[in-house]
Amino acid sequence: KKNVRILAFESSCDETSTAVIKNGREIESLIVATQIKSHQRFGGVVPEVASRHHIEVITQITKEALAEAKVNWDDIDAIAVTYGPGLAGALLVGVSAAKATSMATGIPLIGVDHIMGHIMAAQLKDEIEYPALALQVSGGHTEIVLLKDPTHFEIIGDTRDDAAGEAYDKIGRVLGVNYPAGKTIDEWAHKGKDTFNFPRAMMEDDDYDFSFSGLKSAFINTCHHADQIHQELNKYDLAASFQASVIDVLAHKTMRAIKEYQPKTFILGGGVAANQGLRDRLNQEINKLPAEQKPKVILPELKLCGDNAAMIGAAAYNLYKEGKFSDEHLNADPSLEL
Ligand code: KG4
Ligand code: ZN
Repeated sequence: KKNVRILAFESSCDETSTAVIKNGREIESLIVATQIKSHQRFGGVVPEVASRHHIEVITQITKEALAEAKVNWDDIDAIAVTYGPGLAGALLVGVSAAKATSMATGIPLIGVDHIMGHIMAAQLKDEIEYPALALQVSGGHTEIVLLKDPTHFEIIGDTRDDAAGEAYDKIGRVLGVNYPAGKTIDEWAHKGKDTFNFPRAMMEDDDYDFSFSGLKSAFINTCHHADQIHQELNKYDLAASFQASVIDVLAHKTMRAIKEYQPKTFILGGGVAANQGLRDRLNQEINKLPAEQKPKVILPELKLCGDNAAMIGAAAYNLYKEGKFSDEHLNADPSLEL
């Protein structure tokens, strides 16, 4: 059979999403129902609220994804779903919908790791050549991942504490920025200068691990101290200084990993992959490498950096080709590891 069409579900956090993906590369439809407004007044995602919203929209957006792709169930070769990591109740909504539709139609089921999905957003833009290396930065994860082939991943570096996106959201809260704060802090950073010189943790350590909680504390202490002495700090410079520290550490370790592992492709993935400063910096540094060391660089489209079902459909295609299907025992696994 020539074309493989996958209907994908994603509901691990605060976006409910469905998509139809052809041959792991082509988006025939993508629907993303965001719940951000419902969580903003709490300053973060409320798990119970997330599950309820997923339930409310998932049936409707399943129909929409099929309609927008102009296909029906007969055209679908597999049903894919994120089964972890993420919020248990939120994941269960997608997993239940995928299992129910799979059982009702007889279409095979494929469980997908959310992180593998973020990395495979790259496959929707360009062909990945292996071995590949990915910097995966989101609200929950900050990892350097080595991809031996499309389904075998090895984590070579991880965060010891806060994820990069989480740090953005926490310092954003101090500056009065709505959750999720990353995009606004990124914009402010471009209007300011690195005048505070916050710490760059673990930068010179010879592993690939990260730590962002020290930076977060330094930032918060600086703001509190200024408050106490009634000093007004420039929010643009604060944002620029925070972002410079995050990017320095991410870029430094990523470049060292590229030099050590010599991947054919470099991939940036996850919500923080939308960060303009980070995209520019990695592009610049990789361009400085000698030609024989220079990997192909894939920076996913901005709208595919955040959570979405298209990336899950892309990752599922690779599993499909290797016959890695799931059965009716598929369950949500909130702390699933790559
Ligand atoms: O991947 P994602 O949508 O959800 C998780 O799986 O965690 O990532 C969301 C995170 C949030 O922390 C958000 O603040 C951050 O990505 N983010 C950004 C930017 N856009 C989103 N962080 C920095 N710069 C951005 N432009
Ligand atoms: Zn995510």
